Amino acid sequence: MVMTGKADTNPTAEVFPELTRDVIDRMRDAKSARLREAMAIVVRHLHAIVREAQLTQGEWWQAIDFLTRAGKMCSDSRQELILLSDILGVSMLVDAVDNVAGPGISDSTVLGPFYAGHQRELAQADSILLREEASEPLVMSGRVADPEGKPIAEALIEVWQTAPNQLYDVQDKDQPQGHLRASFRTDTAGAYRFQTILPVSYPIPDDGPAGQLLAAMGRHPFRPAHIHFMISAPGYRTLITHLFFEGDEFLESDAVFGVKASLVVRPELKGRINTVEYNFGLASELNLGSARPSNFVAANNKRSPQSS
Ligand code: BEZ
Ligand code: FE
Repeated sequence: MVMTGKADTNPTAEVFPELTRDVIDRMRDAKSARLREAMAIVVRHLHAIVREAQLTQGEWWQAIDFLTRAGKMCSDSRQELILLSDILGVSMLVDAVDNVAGPGISDSTVLGPFYAGHQRELAQADSILLREEASEPLVMSGRVADPEGKPIAEALIEVWQTAPNQLYDVQDKDQPQGHLRASFRTDTAGAYRFQTILPVSYPIPDDGPAGQLLAAMGRHPFRPAHIHFMISAPGYRTLITHLFFEGDEFLESDAVFGVKASLVVRPELKGRINTVEYNFGLASELNLGSARPSNFVAANNKRSPQSS
């Protein structure tokens, strides 16, 4: 039973502490200890938000309406709740908490909503373009190794990036499907190489509640130019990361906080071609249970309307 919940006359006292205790105590019969632990943390923090912000009924309604609109915007081709997690830094925090870092292991970053599942596998040095683009060519190459530097042969390297019009193929019906995305396998020396174009900075989908919140917070929706990489091999943690490009005006203000210094590259001109050599290190897979759910590409793998 909870008491009255009336604010204490002492202004520093916590408002209605017995309510928080009661909500947490009532989970004592929960079957999963992890769920009980996690939900107790959620309840403590949610109640703390209400107390600290002195939330009004009107603001509570606004928050409910916001979450309702965000949920209704979700479909097979749009995940507004992940976008919300991204712009509030939650996705990068989960990445920091759950991913292994250390010597010889490459930094990871957000997956983003535009991974479109396994793509055609190309040979070493092939181009990932399906049509010509009026952009500067780029040759990407390097090696994939374990933390001790031992090459990993046959690693699957999946890459994707936007076209110069700032859209991924899945956002733009005028691009051939599969344009600027492909898969490669490393050779026996762990090496990879492919041709592409220099990427451009672009705005994340900002035509929904997450975009409205960004604007209300006085923030822009841009991400610095990048190429996405997902690198997997049996016995290793799948690495989800990007490479960013030095000099981009949005490196310090990425809308989703995804930039890490180790992921910023500077192309070198070889002849008249921009080249980037970047070596990736994969962590050993120690904790197989923490893999993403098998349907994690849902909401990413369908051609979606422009800017969604
Ligand atoms: C992306 O880089 O594709 C992306 C990441 C997070 C939110 C939106 C887009
Ligand atoms: Fe992206």
